[in-house]
Amino acid sequence: MIVKAVLAHPEGRPSTLEEVELDEPRADEILVRLVASGICHTDVSTHRLWPGMTGGRWPVVFGHEGAGVVEAVGDGIERVRPGDSVVMSYRSCRVCLECAAGHPYYCRQFATLNVSGTRPDGSTTLRVDGRPVFGSFFGQSSFATHSLAYEDNVVVVGQNIDLSVAAPFGCGLQTGAGTVMNVLELDERSSLVVFGAGGVGLSAVMAARALGVSTIVAVDPVESRRRVARELGATVAIDPGVDDVVEAVHGHTGGGATASIETSAIPDVLLQALDCLGARGTAVALGVGGMPEFTFAPLRLARGKSLRTTVEGDSDPHEFIPKLLELHAEGQLPVEKLIQRYRFDEFGRALHDAESGNAIKPVLLFG
Ligand SMILES: NC(=O)c1ccc[n+]([C@@H]2O[C@H](COP(=O)([O-])OP(=O)(O)OC[C@H]3O[C@@H](n4cnc5c(N)ncnc54)[C@H](O)[C@@H]3O)[C@@H](O)[C@H]2O)c1
Ligand SMILES: [Zn+2]
Ligand SMILES: [Zn+2]
Repeated sequence: MIVKAVLAHPEGRPSTLEEVELDEPRADEILVRLVASGICHTDVSTHRLWPGMTGGRWPVVFGHEGAGVVEAVGDGIERVRPGDSVVMSYRSCRVCLECAAGHPYYCRQFATLNVSGTRPDGSTTLRVDGRPVFGSFFGQSSFATHSLAYEDNVVVVGQNIDLSVAAPFGCGLQTGAGTVMNVLELDERSSLVVFGAGGVGLSAVMAARALGVSTIVAVDPVESRRRVARELGATVAIDPGVDDVVEAVHGHTGGGATASIETSAIPDVLLQALDCLGARGTAVALGVGGMPEFTFAPLRLARGKSLRTTVEGDSDPHEFIPKLLELHAEGQLPVEKLIQRYRFDEFGRALHDAESGNAIKPVLLFG
C-alpha cells in the first residue's frame, strides 16, 4: 500500500515527506494506522549516529513513540485484532536468555530488531520506485501514516485512551519513569537528582513524585524547563549556570543524594551526577549513546557509589505501559504538561523544536 512517511537523509539535507510503498503485513506483522507519534531525543541523536551504526542506510524513516489503531494483522497474530488501539514500544525477541529471564530491554537481538534499518532477514518494509527505504526503526518507524509492528512491541490499550497522550509512553515516559520505579526502586525516604528536564528527565520527576520521594532536585539551564519540573513535583530546581550544583545538592540532601539520573549526555554533567551522591548512591546515565569518550578517576566512585546505564528504564512494555496508563488515569503522571502537538505536515518544525529544545515532548498528529 502507498503511505506517507518522513524520510531522513544524510546530515545537511532536511528530511522530506514522501509517498512510499509499505509491504502488506507478513504472518508475524501488524499493520497500524498511526494516530500520533512522539519525538524522542534518540530520533535526533540516531540521525547523527546512523552512518556509523549501519554504514549509511539512507533514506531511513525514524520514529519510535507511535500509537494508533490496528488495520490488519498477519496470519500468525493472536493477541492483537483489527480495531485495537495500540501503543508501540521497542522490539525484543522474547526467547533469548535475557528475554526468557524477564529482561527484554537487554534482548541479545536488540540492535538487529530495533536499529538495523531492516527486518532481521535484511528486507525493508518500505520502498520508493523499487529502491529500498530503510525503516523497521524500533519495529515501527512511526514518522509515517502507517507502520508494520509486531506482537512483541505492540501494547493494546483501552479504546478510551487519548493516543496523542499515550504515544510517548512507548519510550520517553517509560524510560524516565522506569529508571525511577524499576532500576532505582526509590521510596519516600530517598532523594533523587535529575540532570536534564527534558521528556525523559521530567518523566523521572513525575514518577518520583508519584512514589512520594521526599527530595527531588531538577537541574537544567533552561528556566522554562525548571519551572515545569517544579510544577511536576521537583522540590528544588537548580540552574547549573548560576549555582554550584554539587554543593547545592549536598546542602539540600544533608550530605548527598540516594540517586541521580543523567539525561543531558554531557560528560561534565555525568561527573556532577556522581559527585552529588551520598555513600552507596547510584547514578544512572541515560544519554550514553550520544556521549563522547572521556576519562575520570575511579576515586569518584568511592564510598560505595555505583554508575550504571539502562535501556528503556528496565521496562517490559507489556507490563509497565498499562501500569503507567493507570497511574496517569489517577492523575499521577500529568504527561499533558510536556506535550506540544504538531500536524504531521509540520514535522520539520517539530523536529527542529525537539532539537533546539523549544518543545519538551513534540507529538505529531496524523490526519
Ligand atoms: N537509555 C535509554 O533507553 C534512553 C531512552 C530514551 C532516551 N534516551 C536518551 O536520554 C536523553 C534525554 O532524552 P530527552 O528526550 O529527554 O532529551 P532532551 O534534549 O529533551 O533533554 C535533555 C535536557 O538536558 C538539559 N541540559 C543541557 N545542559 C545541561 C546541564 N549542564 N545540566 C543539566 N541539564 C542540562 C537540556 O536543557 C534538556 O532539557 C537523550 O540522550 C536520549 O537519547 C535514552
Ligand atoms: Zn531476546
Ligand atoms: Zn526514545
